Amino acid sequence: MNKFVMIIFGASGDLTKRKLMPALYTLYKDGRLPDGFAILGIGRTEYEDDNYRTYILKELEQFIASKEQVEEKMTDFCRHLNYLTMNPADVEEYGRLNDRLQELTGEKEPDNLLFYLATPPSLYGVIPLHLQTAHLNTPHSRIIVEKPFGYDLESARDLNRIYSSVFEEHQIYRIDHFLGKETAQNILAFRFANGIFEPLWNRNYVDYVEITAVENLGIEQRGGFYEGAGALRDMVQNHLIQLVALTAMEPPAIFNADNFRNEVVKVYESLAPLTEEDLNEHIVRGQYTGFGTKKGYREENNVSPDSRTETYIAMKIGINNWRWSGVPFYIRTGKQMPTKVTEIVIHFRETPHQMFHCEGGHCPRANKLILRLQPNEGIVLKFGMKVPGPGFDVKQVMMDFSYSELGRLPTGDAYARLIEDCIQGDQTLFTRSDAVEASWKFFDPVLNYWKKHPEVPLYGYPIGTWGPLESEVMMHEHDAEWTNPCKNLTNTDEYCEL
Ligand code: BG6
Repeated sequence: MNKFVMIIFGASGDLTKRKLMPALYTLYKDGRLPDGFAILGIGRTEYEDDNYRTYILKELEQFIASKEQVEEKMTDFCRHLNYLTMNPADVEEYGRLNDRLQELTGEKEPDNLLFYLATPPSLYGVIPLHLQTAHLNTPHSRIIVEKPFGYDLESARDLNRIYSSVFEEHQIYRIDHFLGKETAQNILAFRFANGIFEPLWNRNYVDYVEITAVENLGIEQRGGFYEGAGALRDMVQNHLIQLVALTAMEPPAIFNADNFRNEVVKVYESLAPLTEEDLNEHIVRGQYTGFGTKKGYREENNVSPDSRTETYIAMKIGINNWRWSGVPFYIRTGKQMPTKVTEIVIHFRETPHQMFHCEGGHCPRANKLILRLQPNEGIVLKFGMKVPGPGFDVKQVMMDFSYSELGRLPTGDAYARLIEDCIQGDQTLFTRSDAVEASWKFFDPVLNYWKKHPEVPLYGYPIGTWGPLESEVMMHEHDAEWTNPCKNLTNTDEYCEL
């Protein structure tokens, strides 16, 4: 009999096959799943246990790196899979779910359950209520809910109300897979496990900060979802703002879930409210346009031919606190960019005076620290150095650390880490209800402004470019510019700029 059951709503969907099953397989292969576990997939697509296992096995072959594929383990793992065809929106069907869980656990009131909501967001509010009706919100059960948690501040509050009426906060795990990335967690270690950076990590030494999370793919098959979301809801309100928090937060005195999450909320609450000027001049939104055989956003499936959904957004954010007052944080995300890269660049203030000659007449006066989250995970510090030979010419060089040098790439999948943390009851890397609301509170005015002012420009940018030029212009008032990494990030030396 099974002692622990993970129930995946949305088990025939994209997220399950691409991310959840590979993550669960990784945990299984490494012996990190509890003994006596079972997985119960739920979806409207019809499967029996057997053909669901066959389907997942095939998908695992596609979505797991070949060196991780151990045939015997994969087959063994799939034996733990079960499937129940049901419509999660229909409360009448939860009786069958209850029966199935009793059958899998041999218990009348199974309590060691983990629900994972990998469904369209429209079901996030419905499923917990139905679980309650079916008495499945038992004291030891947990629930993981995917992002976006809410559509705006009001809907996020509504969802929080629903969840807190069904579960205790310690049972609710709002997932943001960026926090599961090894390199995102390393921002904390880099800042707080070293004595030399933290004294410089403030308005006295930092000129501005850039945070970039861009991709070279379009929206693929997610037109239906993306049309209603756009880049702001899909990436900025959650992933990017989490990276802002990791970069800007204060060190907690003791590192634990509560203290860490308190510090995150403090950052969100210090975000400088956006003025009308900010809304007009410090936010640039764009949409990719196609050419030749390449489809622009408006030609994608399930996208309106006159859609005004943004696939790119760049904005300037301020943090009103002692550490960061006056330091702009420029953040951006976009689909169909020249490459996929997520990185944080800290630009330190320039030297007060330049006394050397510089190669090519361009004097590098500011140090830059690049925290590369993916790919080519690593850290680079750029600094000026005398060019060997006569005179005092100075050029900028790089000191770099690459994870690959550890011989252990941070491939540990973010979902595997987060699912394991949830099973162990560790909420550190999950978003707390107050953080979700504080983040929406900051971004809500943007959504309202766009709604009220349809004339706010939406710039087209051709596929494979770095987005609208207006996003560069936005930074000129601070004498800042985006760091655009090389197009093909294929080896660790390529911390270059175009
Ligand atoms: C998801 C977004 O949360 O993150 C996607 O919905 C995006 O649109 C993805 O592609 C990016 O994640 P990663 O881990 O591939 O950088």
